[in-house]
Amino acid sequence: MAKPQRNTFVCQSCGAIATKWSGKCVSCGEWNTITEEVDATAVPGSGLVKTSKGRSVTLESLSGSSEEAPRLPTGIAELDRVTGGGIVPGSALLIGGEPGIGKSTLLLQLAASLAQAGRRALYFSGEEAAAQVRLRAARLGLAGAPVDLASETNLSNILATLDDGRRADLVVIDSIQTLWADALEAAPGTVSQVRAATQSLIRYAKAKGSALLLVGHVTKDGQIAGPKTIEHMVDTVLYFEGDRGHPFRILRAVKNRFGATDEIGVFEMAGSGLVEVANPSALFLGDRDTESPGAAVFAGMEGTRPLLVEIQALVSPSSLGTPRRAVVGWDSNRLNMLLAVLEARCGISLATHDVYLNVAGGLKIAEPAADLAAAAALLSSFSGVPLQSDHVFFGEISLSGAVRAASHMVPRLKEAQKLGFSRAYVPEAGELDPSTTRISVERIGRLKLLADRIGACD
Ligand code: TYD
Ligand code: MG
Repeated sequence: MAKPQRNTFVCQSCGAIATKWSGKCVSCGEWNTITEEVDATAVPGSGLVKTSKGRSVTLESLSGSSEEAPRLPTGIAELDRVTGGGIVPGSALLIGGEPGIGKSTLLLQLAASLAQAGRRALYFSGEEAAAQVRLRAARLGLAGAPVDLASETNLSNILATLDDGRRADLVVIDSIQTLWADALEAAPGTVSQVRAATQSLIRYAKAKGSALLLVGHVTKDGQIAGPKTIEHMVDTVLYFEGDRGHPFRILRAVKNRFGATDEIGVFEMAGSGLVEVANPSALFLGDRDTESPGAAVFAGMEGTRPLLVEIQALVSPSSLGTPRRAVVGWDSNRLNMLLAVLEARCGISLATHDVYLNVAGGLKIAEPAADLAAAAALLSSFSGVPLQSDHVFFGEISLSGAVRAASHMVPRLKEAQKLGFSRAYVPEAGELDPSTTRISVERIGRLKLLADRIGACD
C-alpha cells in the first residue's frame, strides 16, 4: 500500500518545521508565518532522498597544496572589490536588497560586461518579461551585448536550458523567490521551493563551473527572505543598500568564502544605470554646509579603503516629557551610550533636549571609531558653535570617557589630507610617524578634552 503523503508545516521566517499549524512560530516567535508544505522526502521521485550505498572518500591533510580560487573579473571594479577580486567560477552568490534599489540593474550590467568580454552569460528573469529587460538594456546602452535572456520561473526548464549549448560562465536568476520545482507542491517563494531551487542550481553550478548569481528578496526587517538557510547554502552573500532618496548605493559583503567581508562597493544610480564611484569620500562630502553648527567629518574606514563622511547632529530643547532620540545611519544604542557618557563624564546633560543624528548621503556606519565625530557634532550643535570645516575626527569612546585607539590611523589621515583637511582629532594611543602625513594631529585622550576644545563646557 502506498504510504499516505505527509504534510509538514514550515515557518517561512526561520524554516522551523512543526507537525501542526499554529498562528505563531514557537521557534522564532513570528506570527502568521507557518504554511503547509508537502514533505519533500515523501514525494516519490523528488530526487531528494537517495538510498544508494555509500562509498569511502579519500581523506586529505590540511597542509596539501591548493591553488587560489580562479577569478572571473567582472569588468565592474567596485564589484570585484567586494567579491575579493572577481567572481569565482562554480560558486554561488546571493544578492539581497530592497525592491527598487537596483539589483536587477546591477546584474544586467554585470551580465552584459561579461558577455562583451566573450563569456557566455545567461539572465533568467522571473519577475519581468523579456521585453521589459530588453527595454532596460536599451536604456543602459547595453542592447548590443550578447546576453542570453529568458523570462522563466520553472526550475526544470531553466536547468534544461542551461544544459543546452555552450557552457555558461555566468547564470543570473532574478529572483530565487519566483522559481518553482514541479516535484514540490508548495507555492513559489515558500521555504521548501526556495531551498530546493537553490540546491539544484548550486549543484549545477558546482558541476559545470558556472558562476551562479541569485537575487533574493528581503523581508521588511531587511533580511533575505526564505530564511537564513539559503545564506548558508551559497558561498557569498552581498547586500545592496542605500536610501532611495539618495542616488548612492552601497554593495556590502556579509559572507564571503573567497575573501574578506569588510569591503564595500559604492555606486551612484544615474539615468544610465549604476555608475561606479571611485572616490566615495569626495561624493559623501559633496554638498556640505560648512557654516552651521552640528556637523563633523568622520574619517572612517570601510575595509581597506578610507572613507570620509559627514555626521550631522541637531540638539534642540524639547517640550516632551521623554525627549526624542532619532538616528539615521548609526546605531541608536550607541547614541544613547554617548549621551550617557557626555552626562556622566563631562557634565553635559541633554536630558531636556531632543537629539537627532544623521549620517549624510544615506551611508550606514558600523565602526565604533565614529564615536568621537558623533560627539563633536552633538557638542557643536548643543553649544551652537560650528566646527572648523577642515577638521576631521575619529576615535572610539569608552564608558569611562576615555578615547580609545582606532585602527588604520595613517590611511585615515592621508585621505583627510588628500581632501584638503588641515587638522585631525585622534585618540591618544597609537603610534604615528610624523613624516607620513602633513596634516596637524591633535591627540584627544578624554571626551572632556574635546568638550573643552569645542567650548561646550562653561
Ligand atoms: P531595479 O534594478 O529594477 O531594482 P531591483 O531589481 O533591486 O528591484 O532598479 C529600479 C530602480 O532604479 C528604478 O526605480 C529606477 C532606477 N533606475 C535608474 O535610476 N536609472 C536606470 O538607468 C535604471 C535602469 C533604473
Ligand atoms: Mg528586480
